[in-house]
Amino acid sequence: MNIEIRYYSKTGHMKKMAGAVSSVLGVEAKSVEEPVVDETDVLLLGSAVYAAGIDGKIKDFINQLDPAKVKNVICFSSSAILESSYAQVKKLLEARGVKVDSREFHCRGQFALLHRGHPDAADIENLKGFVKGLNLKW
Ligand SMILES: Cc1cc2nc3c(=O)[nH]c(=O)nc-3n(C[C@H](O)[C@H](O)[C@H](O)COP(=O)(O)O)c2cc1C
Repeated sequence: MNIEIRYYSKTGHMKKMAGAVSSVLGVEAKSVEEPVVDETDVLLLGSAVYAAGIDGKIKDFINQLDPAKVKNVICFSSSAILESSYAQVKKLLEARGVKVDSREFHCRGQFALLHRGHPDAADIENLKGFVKGLNLKW
């Protein structure tokens, strides 16, 4: 099974979370600026919420994905106010013709005075548990 990990991070939270995903799967976490070129069974995609939306770099990344190459996307995200970036990412991926897994991970990410210290150690452990629970075989 070929697994890819991509993320976009402005202030480091999604990078930290992508690193946790990477540590479970033994697959390098890369920025969305690196396109997916190989046939991919599962793409783990990490994104956060900024000004109630997802960053243009996530949109650009999704819009150049090849639906014939990427079989399934599993989303993980952080945000301070919105519940998750899942709905926005899912909508774009499905419009692109890429299947999106119903399983997603979300936790809080510090923004100004909100959710200080998050994603914290417990969030990272929860994320690792989520990834282990996916039972991806490769
Ligand atoms: C410029 C900026 C704008 C943000 N706007 C929102 C927002 O509108 N709604 C929300 O839920 N979180 C918002 N956040 C919080 C981020 O989603 C949260 O801090 C996230 O963990 C950031 O991930 P990152 O460090 O990987 O960029 C914002 C954060 C930043 C830096």
